[in-house]
Amino acid sequence: MTQILALGGGPAWGTAISFQPFLPSARLSQTWIEGQRRYMTIQLRAAVSGDAAACGRIIFRAFQRINDEHGFPSAYTDETLAARVASTQLDHPEVYGVVAEADGHVVGSAFLDERALVLSIGPVTVDPPFQRRGIGRRMMEHLLQRAGTAPGARLTTDAFNPQAISLYTSLGFEVKEPLMLLTGRPKDEAPTDARVRPMTADDLEATAALSAHVHGFDRSNELSDCLGKCSPVILVKQGRPTAYASTLSLWQAGHGVAETDQDLQALILGAASLSASPISLLLPTRQSTLLRWCVHQGLRLGKPMLLMSIGEYQEPRGAWFPSARM
Ligand SMILES: CC(C)(COP(=O)(O)OP(=O)(O)OC[C@H]1O[C@@H](n2cnc3c(N)ncnc32)[C@H](O)[C@@H]1OP(=O)(O)O)[C@@H](O)C(=O)NCCC(=O)NCCS
Repeated sequence: MTQILALGGGPAWGTAISFQPFLPSARLSQTWIEGQRRYMTIQLRAAVSGDAAACGRIIFRAFQRINDEHGFPSAYTDETLAARVASTQLDHPEVYGVVAEADGHVVGSAFLDERALVLSIGPVTVDPPFQRRGIGRRMMEHLLQRAGTAPGARLTTDAFNPQAISLYTSLGFEVKEPLMLLTGRPKDEAPTDARVRPMTADDLEATAALSAHVHGFDRSNELSDCLGKCSPVILVKQGRPTAYASTLSLWQAGHGVAETDQDLQALILGAASLSASPISLLLPTRQSTLLRWCVHQGLRLGKPMLLMSIGEYQEPRGAWFPSARM
């Protein structure tokens, strides 16, 4: 098994770097900002539960800015929601977080999800006034050092974010899939020759096998976390599970795999019949037949995104869609 990479050149854990700050932040105390204008020290430390509000504020501001610039709605509609998402990450024992501090104030954060053999990264955010000063790079290098013995790591980013794409590419990530956010209610009824039902703990062995077949690794820990929380669903055809999704109503959290395009279509229709919520998923658009089917079903295309990967990557064998991480 190969390692992701050996990062020898980056600054060690806890090493401080200094630089000129970029732009003042409207939300930070003007006195403090003025005091930082000339010289500032950046330090990384492990994130803790108490960082939720600061991380949430930065996640909200960073995504709002890039999405506003390109006319797309941000997934993080307010600071409270972003803080809740940060909190879920910070409180999870298998998710590692790092924050960057500028003279004691949190100005960035990044998370590494260690629940599967292949790791996932995100969200990675730097407060807009402090962007383009090397902070994102420092946090990413730190996460990759921590991930060093894993076979691979993945993330997604907005396809209209040159800063993120450039940063990840320079660190060794490769674009693996163009993605489109799709939302809406499909027109067709669920097929009668297969049944979609809520997933239970008894299904975890079958879903692990499906994921291992399509991607080469299983995501049982993540699915286990989803049970009873985010409405995971499974498709059973002729007594055999042939597709599952961790959720089909929240693209950020929902990944899915299926043996065939038809199975994924049946899963989407079945999930729609179980819930009044709109379907929402990130579809890899090289799956042209599936994309065309989604368009014919009346799903609306939203923002474009990219799946990027470093280390080992198995070309998916079957139909699939990633969550906002992988
Ligand atoms: C992505 C993000 C975390 C990067 O943080 P950052 O501190 O600004 O990044 P850095 O300064 O370390 O690195 C940015 C790199 O992009 C480069 N860059 C920026 N715009 C570029 C462009 N148009 N073309 C090529 N390179 C570009 C910079 O030169 C820098 O490279 P360098 O280190 O070789 O000089 C930050 O911009 C952010 O929070 N964005 C919004 C949230 C987001 O989209 N996160 C990523 C998905 S989870």
